Order: sequence, then C-alpha cells, then structure tokens
Amino acid sequence: MTQKIIVTGGCGYIGSHTTVALQQAGFNVVIFDNLVNSSADVITGITQITGISPEFEQIDCTDLTAIRDAFSRHRDAAGVIHFAALKAVGESVSKPTEYYRNNLVSLLNVLDMMVAFNIPNIVFSSSATVYGDADNLPVREDTPLKPATSPYGQTKVIGESIIRDAVAAHPGLNSCLLRYFNPIGAHPSGLIGESPSGIPNNLLPYITQTAAGIRECLSVFGDDYDTPDGFCIRDYIDVNDLAAAHLSALRYMISHPTGTDVFNLGTGRGVSVMELIKTFEQATGQKLNYKITARRPGDIPAIWADPSRAERLLGWRARVPLSDTLLSAWRWQTKSMKK
Ligand code: NAD
Ligand code: UFG
Repeated sequence: MTQKIIVTGGCGYIGSHTTVALQQAGFNVVIFDNLVNSSADVITGITQITGISPEFEQIDCTDLTAIRDAFSRHRDAAGVIHFAALKAVGESVSKPTEYYRNNLVSLLNVLDMMVAFNIPNIVFSSSATVYGDADNLPVREDTPLKPATSPYGQTKVIGESIIRDAVAAHPGLNSCLLRYFNPIGAHPSGLIGESPSGIPNNLLPYITQTAAGIRECLSVFGDDYDTPDGFCIRDYIDVNDLAAAHLSALRYMISHPTGTDVFNLGTGRGVSVMELIKTFEQATGQKLNYKITARRPGDIPAIWADPSRAERLLGWRARVPLSDTLLSAWRWQTKSMKK
C-alpha cells in the first residue's frame, strides 16, 4: 500500500529535494508550509521532475487550530519529516523570541498532533551546530554537545531534547534526529535548488552569485586558522544525498520502531574554503573574484562528520562527487536567473 508522509517545510531547500526522493520511491507526500522562506513555485519544479504533484497545505505549524485540521485530514500518514524552521543564524541573534517561538512551537504542535492521531514516526532536521567547536574530529553522534552559540542553534539542541522526552513518554512514537553538516548543491535537473532571500550568509550561494555577477566579490573569512591551509574546514554534503538519507531513515524507523536514534549526515571529508573555491572554478570553468578578509565572529575552525553510523544502520552514505555538486549549484544559479 502507498504510504503517506507529511513533510513540513517541504517547499524549502532540503524539503523540496526530499519530496522528490520520496515521490520517486513511491511515497505520497503532503507538504505543510507557510511559505515564509519559500515559494509555491517549487511545487511546479517538483512536479516537473517527478511527474507527480505533491498535496500542499499552506499552513503555519505554529497555528494549533490550522495544524490540527490539517493533521485530521492526513491522519493516515505513516510519518512526518519536520523541516519547518527559521534557519538564519545571524537573524536569530537579533530576533531570538521569533526563532524560539517559530521553531519550538512548530515542533511541539507537530508532536502533539502525531500523538493525537497516532502517527508513529518523526524525522527531525537537526544540525552539526549542536557539536559547537568539538574537541575531537571527526565528530561522532556520541561526541559531547556544546552549548549553542546562537538562538537558532539552541532551538536544535532543545528540539532534540523535546523529541527524546516525547518519545520516552509515548511508546508508539519513534524518532530519527538527523544532524546535517553543510548542505549544498541543487537537483541535477536545475529545476529546484536553494533560493536565499537577500544577501546570502552561506558560502556556496555567495560563490555562485559572485560568479554570476550578482555580487562583486566573495569575502573569504580568515586565512590564519590552525588548519593545513589556514582556511576553515567544513563537511559539504550534496542536498540530493541528504534527501536520500531521509528516505533511508524513514524506512529504518518503519522496520525498526526503536525509540530515538541519531545520525550524522555528512561525507566524512573536511574541505577548506579555498579548496571549495578551487574545485568550483575547475568544475564550472568560472573564475571567481574573491578577497581574504577578517575572520567571521563565531566561526569554528573545523568540523566534519564521522558518518559511519548512518552507513551501518541506515545503509546510507554520501555518493555525489563534490565537483558534480558544485556544477549542479552553478546550473541552478544560471537557470534561476533566466526565469
Ligand atoms: P528553508 O528555509 O529553505 O526551508 C524551511 C521551510 O520551512 C521553508 O519553506 C519555510 O517557508 C518553512 N517554514 C518555516 N517556518 C514555518 C512554519 N512555522 N510553518 C510552516 N512552514 C514553515 O531551509 P532548509 O535549508 O531547507 O532547512 C530545512 C531544515 O533543515 C530546517 O529545520 C533547518 O534548520 C535545518 N538545517 C538546515 C541546514 C542548512 O544549512 N540548510 C543545516 C542544518 C539544519
Ligand atoms: N564563508 C566565507 N565567506 C562567506 C560565507 C562563508 O568565507 O561569504 C566561510 C565561513 O567562514 C565558513 C564556511 O565558509 O568557514 C562555511 O560557512 P557557511 O556560512 O556556509 O556555513 P557554516 O558552517 O558557518 O554554517 C552552517 C549552517 C548553519 C549551521 C552551521 C553549523 O549554515 O545553519 O553550519 O552546523 F548552524
């Protein structure tokens, strides 16, 4: 029987790619999204790729009445993938209550409705931010968490705890907490991708916009870190690989209903900012205008994942080569500018 999955935040960057993966695997998807950081046009892209239009409920997950109505219409769902959240680290520092309210009230409402309608499985979008500046690299799921350095990060730390407590209290409820490292890239079709509003905070959208001439010059934040080439190191994970991991997590939970589990989703390889720039230039043939500037406050020097737990238990690992990911991001940048 075809199973239905509720995808909150399904019009967003990671949610749209995951919706594609779910539909291609034969799941029925219903998206709950208030479009605060996305557009309903994404549904056209998803439909063009998969040939199937996902159901769409335009609702705010913080609105208990609206979300109760929506859950009652989809009480037959086998699970929820909860992406809906605000995610700008800097904005969360200036608007902390907005971030706590949006991210935590949404999660509380989703959990309450899952219990009310006996929906057993939740996949939660957590982040490598919960590890902070870890003492030992690569980080494993049992690496001690550090206090979050932003209200956004704190919503992930608290969100994980809320889910653990809810699962402990409700024997029918299972969860997978997925800690994403740095998601980048776009669907190879160029039909969906990341659409940051305003000036991008993240490295790759800034790179593609600079290469496209929308931004004049990329600032590389610091070249004097204690790393092999002096630049910060991150674990950049292709968004399509990330989408596939959600499918694996969902299948794992459906076949092993074992409470709460947690997985790092990264490649296992640290890449420096300069290495990313050079690989982008090689993959796309675009020369990038960049300059070295001061460190960005709050940046940690290096983090990358030990993803072996996901490989062992979920049978998932990152597969897309970095150069293909960078090409997909560039294709999306050039295609979305023509619209
Ligand atoms: P995104 O902003 O592109 O997508 C989030 C979606 O949620 C948007 O479509 C937005 O409109 C929707 N949304 C937000 N609040 C809502 C609400 N109250 N009700 C209904 N819809 C709401 O972000 P993304 O990059 O796709 O991130 C998805 C999830 O992954 C988020 O929880 C984010 O914190 C987490 N995450 C992202 C990254 C990253 O670098 N992109 C890294 C780690 C974790
Ligand atoms: N960087 C630049 N120039 C830029 C933007 C970024 O040099 O214009 C550098 C940063 O200093 C960092 C690297 O590129 O070394 C990656 O920066 P991002 O902002 O793309 O990503 P972060 O690792 O800082 O942040 C990401 C997510 C956050 C999450 C955090 C920790 O965007 O949501 O990982 O998991 F909280």
